[in-house]
Amino acid sequence: MAGALLALLALLWGSQVLIAFDYFSPWKGQQQMYKLDIGWPKIPEYFTGQTFCVAVDSLHGLVYVGQRGDNVPKVLVFSEEGYFLYSWNNTVEMPHGIFVLNTATDSSVWITDVGTGKYGHTVKQYSPSGKLMQILGTPGNAGSSLIPLQFDQPAEIFVEESGDIYVVDGDGGMNNRLLKLSNDYKEIWLTGTNGTGIGQFKIPHSVTVDPFGRVWVADRDNKRIQVFDKVTGEWLGSWSSCFSEDGPYSVRFTGNYKYLIVAQLNINRLAVLAAPPVGSIGDCVMVNAVQLADETKPHLVDVDMKSGAVYVAEIGAQQVQKYIPLS
Ligand SMILES: *[C@@H]1O[C@H](CO)[C@@H](O)[C@H](O)[C@H]1NC(C)=O
Ligand SMILES: *[C@@H]1O[C@H](CO)[C@@H](O)[C@H](O)[C@H]1NC(C)=O
Repeated sequence: MAGALLALLALLWGSQVLIAFDYFSPWKGQQQMYKLDIGWPKIPEYFTGQTFCVAVDSLHGLVYVGQRGDNVPKVLVFSEEGYFLYSWNNTVEMPHGIFVLNTATDSSVWITDVGTGKYGHTVKQYSPSGKLMQILGTPGNAGSSLIPLQFDQPAEIFVEESGDIYVVDGDGGMNNRLLKLSNDYKEIWLTGTNGTGIGQFKIPHSVTVDPFGRVWVADRDNKRIQVFDKVTGEWLGSWSSCFSEDGPYSVRFTGNYKYLIVAQLNINRLAVLAAPPVGSIGDCVMVNAVQLADETKPHLVDVDMKSGAVYVAEIGAQQVQKYIPLS
């Protein structure tokens, strides 16, 4: 209902009560932009661990989920309709970030692994069925900041169709940096050190690239998003005004590049931010928000660039939920 001051939706799904509301937000009275798809997935019992990350292959209609835990499959694959398809375990320890790359000829799944065992501290590429194709980093060894391809808890990866790779390293290890690699895994540039200054990071947690040549990084513990030139690595600007309550955990654009979807884990919120057109990034403007239930803890998200659906990996609720755009 347009202009409604209170919208409360509570629904019972198995034993879990999911609540979405917007009555005390600055956007009250505004229309909701997203609606929870209560039929996704068809059978939630496949989530048996802590669901840290999700990636959508919109070309093939697949959704990959990375989960952690003892005696659980580490990667679950669903159809976009919510049917469970298959899972794999092979060489994945503690998935943190996940990304699907589609090229003209094939598709693959990249996973950042923050495990401390013999496969950890790596960024790995898999075939859609889970065959290990490429390992970056030195498995089992946390890396010194002096060697770019030696990671320490790599947080997330974004790969362009050209094969150029952006890695945020890391999720609390000794490195706080953003690294660009060529498609043959050579360093193109590296930026960032531990700190609060311009271009420095405290837990660079998520990374994405827009069509205007800008790299967006969720600088989580500095409670800001920083933006860099993708060709040179030069710092272009930063946003912090939207994050006084909680730092950004994810950065993902919507399919039309009009908005950024930013998960804020500690306040259980998805912030919808206006994405600036080409040029200066200006100031942060929050245009809408999706308030999740307490203790849901949204960690990372991904957007289906075709349908616009937003998938949210929730560590607290131990599930992935799908939100569909209402317009
Ligand atoms: C992965 O390993 C767990 C525990 O060892 C097992 O229960 C599960 O069936 C395995 N899944 C796959 C797809 O191999
Ligand atoms: C980063 O710097 C802060 C203080 O400036 C320090 O407490 C912290 O341990 C440093 N982190 C790393 C990974 O070096």
